[in-house]
Amino acid sequence: KHFQLLKLDATDSTNSYLKDLLRSENPSDYTVVVAERQLKGRGQMGMVWQSEGGKNLTFSMLRRFDALSVKHQFVLNIAVSIAVCDVLNELLVPDVAVKWPNDIMSGSKKVCGILIENVLKGNRVGQSIIGIGLNVNQTDFANLDKASSLKRITGRNFNLDELLHSLLERMRFHLDGIEVKTVTQLLPSYEKLLFRKDKPSTFTNDKGGLFMGYIRKVSPSGKLVLELEDRIFKEFDLKEVSLLY
Ligand code: BTN
Repeated sequence: KHFQLLKLDATDSTNSYLKDLLRSENPSDYTVVVAERQLKGRGQMGMVWQSEGGKNLTFSMLRRFDALSVKHQFVLNIAVSIAVCDVLNELLVPDVAVKWPNDIMSGSKKVCGILIENVLKGNRVGQSIIGIGLNVNQTDFANLDKASSLKRITGRNFNLDELLHSLLERMRFHLDGIEVKTVTQLLPSYEKLLFRKDKPSTFTNDKGGLFMGYIRKVSPSGKLVLELEDRIFKEFDLKEVSLLY
């Protein structure tokens, strides 16, 4: 399969662009929209995604499915997170990890965000729009103290086109045939990449309260499993927990 690559100078959001394309045309599997700059980049949970134009990668990939059940949709988060980590590791970016569910970290800094938006058909995922924002050559993160870029971390400049193609190839490798893989099958390699796994950590809950715990694993439905006290485990979804440090 080949990529259908659409290059834009600017758009609100490559995820939104691909979503509109799905409504108006019939884009093929592995259509990719890449924009030099986004005017209204979107992050998880309604947040904005800020990215300096021309210096970073902001793109979205379309995957179509015949038989991916909604309860297995976390396989997509796993496949894409592993793909991005693979590429960063190959480039010798230090301490690459996945901050659950799919922020890609280098050390204690976030370098990449992933926004997966699934179009459901009953109890199945019909299409998935996989958005990636990777901070590459941007060096100024004035108002974002937890964010960084590959250049800031490694001191090197990266060629955006080469990097894009490495990511696309690696994503395709992990996303091909994903329908017949199960979360349980893929979890071990994902859990190995987990940021702050087994370290005493501080979290906030949805009411703003602080609590301590250890990241132990991820459930087959994609929830984060924390050990709160000795052998007291609890599952959390994205809205219920946020890792502070
Ligand atoms: C996050 O960390 O909250 C997810 C950020 C995802 C950003 C990417 S950039 C390309 C695509 N288009 C968007 O509007 N968002 C994603």
